[in-house]
Amino acid sequence: MANNDDKFKKVISHAKEYGYVFQSSEVYDGLSAVYDYAQNGVELKKNIRDYWWKAMVQMNDNIVGIDAAIFMHPTTWKASGHVDAFNDPLIDNKDSKKRYRADVLVEDFREKILQKINKDVAKAKKRFGDAFDENEFRSTNGNVLRRQKQIDDITERLTEVQEESDLAAFKQLILDLGIVCPVSGSKNWTDVKQFNLMFGTKLGASAESAMDLYLRPETAQGIFVNFLNVQKTGRMKIPFGIAQTGKAFRNEIVARQFIFRMREFEQMEMQFFIKPGSQGEWFKHWKEARLKWHLSLGLGEDNYRFHDHEKLAHYADAATDIEFRFPFGFKELEGIHSRTDFDLKQHEAYSGKKLQYFDHEDNANYTPYVLETSIGLDRMFLAVFSNALQEEELENNTTRTVLKLPAVLAPTKAAILPLVRKDEALVKLSKQIIEDLKWDFSVTYDEKDAVGRRYRRQDANGTPFCITVDGESLEDNTVTIRHRDTMEQQRVKIDDLKAIIKKEVDVKEWLMRM
Ligand code: GAP
Repeated sequence: MANNDDKFKKVISHAKEYGYVFQSSEVYDGLSAVYDYAQNGVELKKNIRDYWWKAMVQMNDNIVGIDAAIFMHPTTWKASGHVDAFNDPLIDNKDSKKRYRADVLVEDFREKILQKINKDVAKAKKRFGDAFDENEFRSTNGNVLRRQKQIDDITERLTEVQEESDLAAFKQLILDLGIVCPVSGSKNWTDVKQFNLMFGTKLGASAESAMDLYLRPETAQGIFVNFLNVQKTGRMKIPFGIAQTGKAFRNEIVARQFIFRMREFEQMEMQFFIKPGSQGEWFKHWKEARLKWHLSLGLGEDNYRFHDHEKLAHYADAATDIEFRFPFGFKELEGIHSRTDFDLKQHEAYSGKKLQYFDHEDNANYTPYVLETSIGLDRMFLAVFSNALQEEELENNTTRTVLKLPAVLAPTKAAILPLVRKDEALVKLSKQIIEDLKWDFSVTYDEKDAVGRRYRRQDANGTPFCITVDGESLEDNTVTIRHRDTMEQQRVKIDDLKAIIKKEVDVKEWLMRM
């Protein structure tokens, strides 16, 4: 597909056209950064969630799941640090009255310089053809070097103002770079202020007695406050993990890039409780284990990279992101955080209840350390979906749009197509096949249009198999099975269909690649 912007636009429109993702409340012109999952999207999302749950909970005998409520006692968020420290730095333009995240303004400015470098490189490549040595060009060309130095200087100053939380210096950086408001074009900026990302709501019937609550900004705290309940009732021995999936809410100021950054989203998190001092070893373990899980889906090794954090959150002693190559570049997909004993100690302090573990081997009490893996389900959906959407040039000079979803995640595993829809016997046999297969797989029936068009429709829908029932099927109980990715067709016995499909979509087959 042409360029990244075009590709991303196609991803968004394909997600709508094929019933994957709709803008929320579209009839009222939508609600910014809130999306609904449609009939195919809900299946894909569920399959990703199940794939995660199976790998994390079912396959590990020392990890159990919970489903904590979205509402939590408000002191939770005081203890966790979210009331005081879960902020974004904001700046307003006085002329347009538009509000921006200060860090995003700087990052966008830096990105534009990077794009200029890439443009110079592309131009030189065109000019010099095969003789072009990109590395040499990047390390010797005057313009490139000057721009790269600008980028490095900006990165250094941005890190500094963020680390020091120096809001005056943040504004100065924006002024020094001469950043203008994209709407008014002016440099008439307010001071930079901190803005808390949690949504507030109220619990209770009357205004006087109502209690102020927050919608949880992460699922993790539901696990921390249940740590002792689960440990005792499940007789869990350290090291052990608690996993959960569920909605989280953040009042994101820069909410864009489709389902990448939403105000209501879903997380899949696991807190692994360990002995203090062993966090280095477990950090390494979970980094490797989580990357293997991603790679098992076959989205391409080159599309992942780790980004170790230099600036650590208030609760962490080590952290890394697994970044994925989205259509708009490498961005965070999952976080792996060594959270020390910060959260349990804080909940102890604020609740006055002991949240410790008695280690029988050491005959001692201690507050466990925690290793967290946290992935956004919607981001994983976007990674899988955008990677799958491809346009292929075919031999007959036509193109086909195909959604090459990993078969294990595809919403519909097979479409059953009677070759001729007016032939009652073919329709009857097709429906019999569906009745048999639907106990094991999600399958669909498709009889409209010529069979070639139906194949294309199922390709674009991401269905791994099309099963065509024709006159011969009535005589010898065979059908044609067509594979989405290779377009290869085979004649097979109806009795063998189940085994053929299972082999390609079975979770075990996929997870065994880990
Ligand atoms: N408990 C740790 C935690 O919440 P985080 O890095 O803030 O850490 C974890 O979030 C993951 O949640 C991210 O890697 C991302 O995949 C997802 N996520 C965070 N904010 C999001 C948003 N506004 N929209 C969609 N996904 C989001």
